[in-house]
Amino acid sequence: MISIALAKGRLAKDGLELFKSIGIDCPDYSTKSRKLIFFSSDERYKFIMVKPSDVPIYVERGAADIGIVGKDTLLEEGKDVYELLDLKFASCKMSVAGFPDEKKRSITNNNIRVATKYPNIARSFFSQRKEMVEIIKLNGSVELGPIIGLSDIIVDIVESGKTLKENGLVVIEDICPITARLIVNRVSLKIKRGRIEDIIKSLEKSLEEKYDD
Ligand code: PRP
Repeated sequence: MISIALAKGRLAKDGLELFKSIGIDCPDYSTKSRKLIFFSSDERYKFIMVKPSDVPIYVERGAADIGIVGKDTLLEEGKDVYELLDLKFASCKMSVAGFPDEKKRSITNNNIRVATKYPNIARSFFSQRKEMVEIIKLNGSVELGPIIGLSDIIVDIVESGKTLKENGLVVIEDICPITARLIVNRVSLKIKRGRIEDIIKSLEKSLEEKYDD
């Protein structure tokens, strides 16, 4: 059996649609279900629904052979897994944002405070540029940081830009584009090589058909 860790929520829904397009279905799955494990009809595939930030650890430790996860989580978690495919869905970007005034003010000011759910991404971005910042780790509603005065700027995901706009914030600088990625456990790729390679080839073909039209 091949086990696949999916990030609960939209990534799981889009991921399952992608697997369905290559003939791997998951008939019992529904967004309303509270079940955490589902099987394909032929019972050759097991889908495990995990918290998005936990997908890399499940795959790194071999609790799942394959995972679908956002590039943001991959960069943040820094786990030892093979990243084999850009699945192209769940597209957004990682950006530095703040009040429009911050655009004029140089981020090189020392001790600028950065609120973020992604402390590792933020730390690495600013340290590469030799900029000293204080990272404040939050677990959500990061946009509140500058509004409440907890931070000067934020590092966060921007998808439609609606959350920034409705809170009077703007993108100051983009860090990197983000999409969903297919990751594979290192040992699984050796011992289940044939089946995993077949899945990857089929997914590549399905993605080409979907995005190259
Ligand atoms: C994410 C992200 C932004 C928002 C961006 O938050 O952290 O806040 O979505 O999307 P937008 O550009 O389309 O507005 P999420 O909805 O996951 O909630 P959270 O802030 O509680 O983590």
